[in-house]
Amino acid sequence: GKGGYDHYMLKEIYEQPTALRQTIRGRIDTLNDDVILDSFPPGSFDEVTSVQFVACGTSYHAAVYAAGLLNESGVPAQAYLANEYGVSEPPIPENALVVGVSQSGETADTLEALRYADAVGARTLVVTNVVGSTAARECTDAMYIRAGPEIGVAATKTFTSQVASLALLGERLIRDVTGTPSRFSAELLDSLSRLPSDVQQTLDDSTADELAELFDGSDAYFFIGRGLGYPVALEGALKFKEISYEHAEGFAAGELKHGPLALVTPDTPVFAVFTGQHTEKMLNNVKEVQSRGAPVIAVVGDESEEVHRVADEVLTFPEAPAYASGIMANVQLQLVAYHAARRLGRPIDKPRNLAKSVTVE
Ligand code: M6R
Repeated sequence: GKGGYDHYMLKEIYEQPTALRQTIRGRIDTLNDDVILDSFPPGSFDEVTSVQFVACGTSYHAAVYAAGLLNESGVPAQAYLANEYGVSEPPIPENALVVGVSQSGETADTLEALRYADAVGARTLVVTNVVGSTAARECTDAMYIRAGPEIGVAATKTFTSQVASLALLGERLIRDVTGTPSRFSAELLDSLSRLPSDVQQTLDDSTADELAELFDGSDAYFFIGRGLGYPVALEGALKFKEISYEHAEGFAAGELKHGPLALVTPDTPVFAVFTGQHTEKMLNNVKEVQSRGAPVIAVVGDESEEVHRVADEVLTFPEAPAYASGIMANVQLQLVAYHAARRLGRPIDKPRNLAKSVTVE
C-alpha cells in the first residue's frame, strides 16, 4: 500500500534514504577509501578504455550524470539516448564498455541499443533495479541498484539509487581504466556514505510545498544547470511536465543566450541548480534571467551565502561535494513537481499517456 501517503510517488520520494542505504550497503570501505562490488572485483575492467551509456528518460539523465563523473576523472564516457543510438548505430570503439541504465530492464529502446552493441561484439553491462529482467539476462554483466519496487510512473528513488550505483561502478571503472583512484575518490565515497542522512535532512527541511503554491499558475517552468547540475535540470523539468502537464524545460545554463532566453518573462520561474561547481557562471545566468523579470529559485547547499543573497527564493540541502549536491537538488525538484501536480489535482501515480515500462519502440 501507500503507507499513509496520498500517492506512491510521495511515498517513494520519502523512501530515498532507505533506498540509498540499500544501494550502498556493503559496497563502500570507508576505512580504506575503497569500493567493494562483489561482481566486479578490482581488475574487472582492466581492458576497458571508454564507456558509452545508453538509456531513456530519467535513466538517461542518470547516465548523463555518470558520464560527467567519469570524464572528470579521465575516463572517456558518453551518454546516448537509447532510441537515437539504436537508429544511428554509431561505431563502438574497441574495448568500449556499453552500459545500459534501466530501472525496469525491459525498455524496448534500451534493449535494442544493448542488442546492437552485443551484436558488434562489445561488452555490455546493465545497471537496473530488476533482478532477472530481460536486460539483466541479456547483458554480459549486471549491477543491481537495490532501490526496492517503484510503483509510481514517475521515477524518483530509482533515479537516486541509479546515480549512487553509477558512482560506485564509476569508481571501480576509474581505478581499473586509469590505474589510480579518482582525485575525488575519498570525498566521493565519504559523501556517498553520508547521503542517506543528508537526503533525509533535505526531505525534512523542504519548503517545496510552499514554493509550488507561490508559483502556481505560471506560464512555464524552466530549469537550468551546468556540469553535474545539467542532468539535474533536465530531470527536474521531465518530472515537472510528466506529472503536472505544465510546460517545463531544462536547459544547460550556458545555452540560455543561444535561444531559450527569448521565452523568459516574469511569469516563467527559473529553477537554478547549484552543485558547488561553476558557481560564478551560474550566478551570471541567474542575473541574465532576473533582468528579464523571471523569479529565480536557487536549489543550493545551505551554506552558499552569495547564492542565497542573489536568488529570489531558495530550496536548500546540506552542504556537500558536487556529486552529492546534485542528488539532493534533484530530491527538492521531485518535491516541487509533486506539490505542483497535487495542487492541480493531477493523477500523479498514473499520468496520462505514459506507462511505467515502455516495452514498445
Ligand atoms: O525502466 P527504464 O529506466 O528503462 O525507463 C526509462 C524511462 O521510460 C523512464 O525513466 C521514464 O522516463 C520515467 N518514468 C520518467 O519518470
